[in-house]
Amino acid sequence: MNIDKILDKILEEMTLEEKASLCSGDGFWHTKAVERLDIQRIMVSDGPHGLRKVNEEKDCVTDESIKAVCFPTASALACSFDRGLIERLGKALGDECQAEGIAVLLGPGANIKRSPLCGRNFEYFSEDPYLSTEMASAYIKGVQSRGVGVSLKHFALNNQEHRRMSISAEVDERTLREIYLASFEGAVKNAKPWTVMCSYNRINGIHASENPKLLTDILRNEWGYKGLVVSDWGAVDNRVNGIKAGLDLEMPSSMGKNDKYIVDAVRLGKLNIKYVDKCARRVLELVDKFEEGKKSNVVWDKEKDHKLAAKIESECMVLLKNDDNILPLDKNKKIAFIGKFAKSPRYQGGGSSHINSYKVTSALDAVKDICDVSYADGYLINEDRIDEKLLNEAISTAEACEIAVLFVGLPDMYESEGYDRSHLRLPECQLELIKRVSEVNKNVVIVLHNGSAVEMPFVDNVKGILEAYLGGQAVGQAVVDILFGKKNPCGKLAETFPRKLSDNPSYLNFPGEGDRVRYQEGIFVGYRYYNKKEIEPLFPFGHGLSYTTFEYKDIEVSKTEMNDDEELTVSVTLKNTGKVKGKEIVQLYINDEQSSVIRSIKELKGFEKVTLNPGEEKRIAFVLDKRSFAYYNTDISDWYTEYGKYNILVGASSRDIRLKTSVYVAPTNKVRVEYTLNCTGGDIMSTETGRELFKEFLSDVNVGLDIDSDSAGLAMYNELPLRAMVSFSDNENITREKLGQFVRKLNIILNSDLY
Ligand code: BGC
Repeated sequence: MNIDKILDKILEEMTLEEKASLCSGDGFWHTKAVERLDIQRIMVSDGPHGLRKVNEEKDCVTDESIKAVCFPTASALACSFDRGLIERLGKALGDECQAEGIAVLLGPGANIKRSPLCGRNFEYFSEDPYLSTEMASAYIKGVQSRGVGVSLKHFALNNQEHRRMSISAEVDERTLREIYLASFEGAVKNAKPWTVMCSYNRINGIHASENPKLLTDILRNEWGYKGLVVSDWGAVDNRVNGIKAGLDLEMPSSMGKNDKYIVDAVRLGKLNIKYVDKCARRVLELVDKFEEGKKSNVVWDKEKDHKLAAKIESECMVLLKNDDNILPLDKNKKIAFIGKFAKSPRYQGGGSSHINSYKVTSALDAVKDICDVSYADGYLINEDRIDEKLLNEAISTAEACEIAVLFVGLPDMYESEGYDRSHLRLPECQLELIKRVSEVNKNVVIVLHNGSAVEMPFVDNVKGILEAYLGGQAVGQAVVDILFGKKNPCGKLAETFPRKLSDNPSYLNFPGEGDRVRYQEGIFVGYRYYNKKEIEPLFPFGHGLSYTTFEYKDIEVSKTEMNDDEELTVSVTLKNTGKVKGKEIVQLYINDEQSSVIRSIKELKGFEKVTLNPGEEKRIAFVLDKRSFAYYNTDISDWYTEYGKYNILVGASSRDIRLKTSVYVAPTNKVRVEYTLNCTGGDIMSTETGRELFKEFLSDVNVGLDIDSDSAGLAMYNELPLRAMVSFSDNENITREKLGQFVRKLNIILNSDLY
C-alpha cells in the first residue's frame, strides 16, 4: 500500500481527540505518539548553527544541552556567499541529527536584517532577500539530503526582539513581497523544507500563527508548500483560528489545553473536521519521512566537525580594511595579540541557538603553531568600565611590539535572542583600548567578534580590520589562518555597516510604538536605502578585500531584447591579477533605467564565488529570469516587468561596479489600466500607442501642441487630467463628450494592445 493510502487509513481509525492531540507537541521537543496506532513520537532540536539537543528524558527547556559543535552563525555564513559551503555545513548538521536521533533541526532563520539593532541578527543571513534565500536554500538542501528535516524560521517579519510576541509589523504589500517574504520564498520553492516555523509577532494586526493569508494563501497556494507548519515556541494565541489558518503543530505542548479547544470547536460545528484532518495528516507525514530516512549507523565525529567549523569560518571572514598590506602578518615580526577575546573568543549569541561547545579554539591557542606573540587582556570581557591596570598593560605590550592585533567586539550581554541592542557602539573600555593603543603603535589590526554591524570611530586610526562575526567554536583557528596568510580572506559583507546608527533606514521607526512597528522605509532596506539616499556607508554591502587582486572583463549578454518569460545569460571573465591564489565573489545587480514605480537603484540578482590561481582566468555565467527584473505589482497581485531598458551591473561590491551592459525586457503578463477622465496626459502617454493616440486626439481637437518638440507643453500635459482640459482651454472643440469618446477609445485600444 502506498503511503497516502496508509495515512488515509490511519486517519480513518483515529478519534477526534487523537487527531487533535497530534496537533500539539509532547513536552518541549517531541511530537506526540499514538501508541494504539503505532505512531511514534519524533524529536526536534535547535539549530541553526549546531545541535542544541536537550535532555530527552526530562524534555524541558532549561536543561543543559549535550556537548556539540558550534559552527559559525548565519551572520558569518552569509558572508561566504558560497552555496556549496553552506550545503556542506548542512550535511554535517544533518549527520549530527541522524547520530542523535533528531528528526527536525530548528533553522535556518531567514528573517531580513531590517535594523542592525535586532538582537537576533546573528542568527539571520542578510539585509538582502536574494542572498538570504539562496543561503537558506543551500542550508536546507544540505541538512535534508541526510534524511532529516529543517524548520525554516521565523515566518515572517520577526525582525526585532522588542515585544516580539505581541508586536504587529505593519508593512505594505509590495515591501512584504519584495523584501520580507522573498527571503523565504526561494528557500520554500527550491529547497522544500520539511517544516516552516511561524513567527511570534503579528503581521498587519494578525498573529502569524493564525494568519491564513500567510500560512495558506501565500505559503501553500502560491508557493506550493507541502510540508508542515509549526508554531514558534509559545506563538499560539487562538488555536482554533490557527488550525483554520494552516498552523499544523503547536509547540511546545499546551498540556492538552489547546487540543481541547479544537475538539470542542469541531463538536460545536465551529470548526470543520477537514482542517483538523489536514493538520494531523501533516504530522503523520513528518513522522513517516523521518522513519523512512532514519540511519542507525551514523557516527558523530566531533573533531572532524570542529575542523569543518574552522574551515567554514575562514571562508566567511571579511577583510574590511588592509592599508599598506598590513595583512598577512610576517611571523618574524614582533607581534602582540591584545584583548580578552584573543583568549576567550565570543563566537555565538545568546538564546535558543546557544550551543554547549565541546571545545573552543582561541586565537592564542592557534597562534602557538606559528610563532610566539605577546599578550595582554586589555579589558574585562563583560564590562563597559575601563580597567586602568589592564589598559596600561596593553599599551606597554603594544608599544614593545611592531604590530598590535586587537581582538574586540560585543560582549554576550549586548546581543541575544529576547532583546535588541540600543546602540551600535563597542563597549567603552574597548574603544578606549583601541584609541590608546593606536596612539603608541601605528600598525594596528582589529579583529571583530560581533553578530551584527557596529560603529567604528577608530576606522581611520587603524590599518587593518578583519570582521570575524560570531564565528563558531573554531574561530580562533580561522582568524590565525587568515592573519598569517595561510588562508586568503574571501568573505564579503552580507549587510551594510552604517557610519552611525541614525543613517539606518529603519532608525525613525524602530522598534515601534507600543505593539505596532511601521515599516515606513518600505522596500528601502539596507543598501537599497543607502544607495538611493546617497549616504556613504562605513562599509557597503558586498564589500570585502583579498590578499590578491581581480580583473573583471568582457561582459556579454545572450540577447539584447527579450520577453520576461525568457532567460538571459550574462557572461563575464574574471582574472586573478595578483600573486596568490584567491576567491572572489562576483556580484550581479539589476538597475531599471526608467520606471513608473519607485525602485531601488540596484538589486542583487546573482552571485558566484570563483577560485583562481595567480594569472588564471575563468568565464562565469549568470542566468537571469523574470524575477531578476520584476517588481511586485499590487494592481495585478503579481510580479511584473515593466517594458524598458535594464542595466546589468557586475562588480566586486554594491558600490564597486566594474562592468555594465543592458537588455530591453518586455512583460508578458497584462496590466489593465482603466482609463477615465481623471487620467493625466502622462498616464496615457506611458506607452508608445498611448502617446500616438494622444497626439492624434490633440490634433483632432486642434490643440496646437507638438509634444515631440515642446517639452514645457508636454510637461504640463503630463500632469493635467483630461477633464481639466475643459476648464483650462477656450478651445470649443474640447468638450466632456469628446473627452469621454477619447477615453472609451483608449480603453478599447490600449487594453487590447497590451504587451
Ligand atoms: C525561538 C526559536 C526556537 C524555539 C525553540 C523560540 O523561542 O524563537 O527560534 O527554535 O524557541 O527553542
